[in-house]
Amino acid sequence: MLETVFNTRAMEFMPQLAEPAVRLHLLVVDADAAVRSACAEIAASLGYAVESTGDLAQARSLLRGHTADILLVNLPAGSNEGLEMVSEVKLLYPETSVIAMTATGSVNAAVEAMRCGASDYLTKPFAMDELSTVLDRAAQNHSTDTATRQLRERLRLSEGLGSMIGRSAEMEKIYRILSKVAQSTHPVLILGESGTGKELVARTIHAYGPNGEKPFLPVDCGSIVPTLIESELFGYVRGAFTGANRSKDGLLVSAEGGTVFLDEIGELSLDLQAKLLRALQEKEVRPVGATHRVPIKARIVAATNRDLAAMVEKGSFRKDLFYRLNVVNLRLPSLRDRREDIPLLAAHFLDRISREHNRKYTLSDEALRTMMRHDWPGNVRELENAIERACAMSSGPLLQLGDLPTQLQQKGLEARRAAVATGDGLAAAVAPELKTLADLEREAILGAIRTLNGDKLQAAKLLGIGKTTLYRKLKEYGIADPLREE
Ligand SMILES: Nc1ncnc2c1ncn2[C@@H]1O[C@H](COP(=O)(O)OP(=O)(O)OP(=O)(O)O)[C@@H](O)[C@H]1O
Ligand SMILES: [Mg+2]
Repeated sequence: MLETVFNTRAMEFMPQLAEPAVRLHLLVVDADAAVRSACAEIAASLGYAVESTGDLAQARSLLRGHTADILLVNLPAGSNEGLEMVSEVKLLYPETSVIAMTATGSVNAAVEAMRCGASDYLTKPFAMDELSTVLDRAAQNHSTDTATRQLRERLRLSEGLGSMIGRSAEMEKIYRILSKVAQSTHPVLILGESGTGKELVARTIHAYGPNGEKPFLPVDCGSIVPTLIESELFGYVRGAFTGANRSKDGLLVSAEGGTVFLDEIGELSLDLQAKLLRALQEKEVRPVGATHRVPIKARIVAATNRDLAAMVEKGSFRKDLFYRLNVVNLRLPSLRDRREDIPLLAAHFLDRISREHNRKYTLSDEALRTMMRHDWPGNVRELENAIERACAMSSGPLLQLGDLPTQLQQKGLEARRAAVATGDGLAAAVAPELKTLADLEREAILGAIRTLNGDKLQAAKLLGIGKTTLYRKLKEYGIADPLREE
């Protein structure tokens, strides 16, 4: 029995464990006073702050006063009280890790406890090191959970939410709706221009939702042929069509409670719209070629850059399906309507590429100013591509106007010209990036000689100057060996 396992001699030889940095609170609930005090004593010697009680009502009041990090609760045979306590604690204090203690042989009770949310169990009688192992495990899970929560919180407060970047009022509004809708499993419709982050939002809703660990399954309704969409979504049975050698579950079934992301939903044919509506209403589907129906368990998140309401007006999108998908909608702002997020997004992409290339890239002031003025019809995706391109084009770690896509370069040059014409402060700011005529002449001479593999006579002809002039210029610019010059 327990007393023999927890003898004082064993206690004396217990290794000295370093105390956890933060003392975790443990609540022991067991009507058996001997078990209770033995567990409490061992846990205290392991560094936990322990409270114990034999009475469930008192346990509840202790939990109300001070939430426990770990609850060690006995499941008395022949009563449901212990299990009820487990469910109740997981509902009221989801962050508390629960360990259930059961009598020998009552594996069912342990399984039931795990189903109710317990993370571990001990079968009586157990040895001291079994107790210390499960406590250790619970403590570790607890600290990982806390760290993850803190990280999420920090991310939310600093740059954005999860992997979403942006601190503009428009994005803050999106985060508020997003963190609310993530908690439910209602359908969500995400609207927004191309590249505004619709898929990223869908993934974030899924990741922050109650089934974040379950699959996230995207289906691109715009690029897959309708017959394939149907068999992808609803599944098929063997022999349903040529090549169907075996039955296959549809994504709405294999999501197992996760999320099916219907991207470009505006492209779905009217026939499939009708089938999808029926599936959502009846919560079951008929696989292609089957006569039976299969229950589905999946959250639907849909996205489109088309104006669905206008499509409903025109009759190309079913009104009833629109209403069903549009229970909650999120309209993502275009990048030009949240320009203040451009530097943050740019820094985020630069960081990522710098890590990948093992080289620290930064944007010149002029390049960033030009980016702030651009309208970004392709939104965040266009910005991401522009930065990737600039990193690939640039010769050094500082990305200049000349490294940006042509359209942006032109905008930047226009701004330069306007600044020079009006003689405002901007001209001074961009001056370091303007080349002098002498620089250009030196580059032209070097370029010509190199192209002609060192033939100075031909180079002079190409440049439209005499041979003597060329030699004079080379001397003037201090170029001894044109092929080796920087
Ligand atoms: N707020 C954001 N923070 C960080 N990255 C973002 C953000 N919004 C979008 N992105 C990035 O921009 C790119 C485009 O995003 P996404 O694919 O989600 O857009 P989309 O609206 O689905 O575009 P499309 O309509 O073209 O399919 C992705 O690489 C995504 O990670
Ligand atoms: Mg997309």
